[in-house]
Amino acid sequence: MYKKFLMLSLVFILSLSSNAVFAGDVEKGKKIFKKCAACHNVAEGAKHKTGPNLWKIHGAKAGIQDGYKYSKWLKGSGIVWNDEELAAWVSAKKVKVAKFGKDVKKSKMIFAGLRKQGQIDDMIAYLKSLK
Ligand code: HEC
Repeated sequence: MYKKFLMLSLVFILSLSSNAVFAGDVEKGKKIFKKCAACHNVAEGAKHKTGPNLWKIHGAKAGIQDGYKYSKWLKGSGIVWNDEELAAWVSAKKVKVAKFGKDVKKSKMIFAGLRKQGQIDDMIAYLKSLK
């Protein structure tokens, strides 16, 4: 009995800690991505739309997708798209400016920004899954 309890507790603790590491939900993120899909393809080798294809974007340097004409600002920004950068990029303007400076408005991406932390986490989980 005691052993069983111990096992269950262990499973419970493990599931909690793995959630903490991987907070976002890929499937939910995929749904939220509908807001982005007007401008972004995500499939490997798919063409650019108003915005560049986002296949393998997590961990990539900003402004390097072949055949897409970026704004000068984004190309020269030196951003690397890790969790923190992607989170700020899809957030409300205030957060974007705080992270990248006020020149971020020279970017060509016009998007109002996600406001709920949960949505932002789910979005990042989804973008990470594109590889
Ligand atoms: C109205 C069109 C539009 C919408 C909607 C939009 N984007 Fe963009 N996105 C762009 C454009 C245009 C660029 C290129 C920006 C530049 O060159 O300054 C861009 C650039 C990006 C980049 C940088 C890509 C790179 O190669 O460096 C990421 C990441 C990105 N968008 C993610 C998203 C996500 C996630 C969403 C939804 C939450 C979204 N975008 C919504 C148009 C859009």
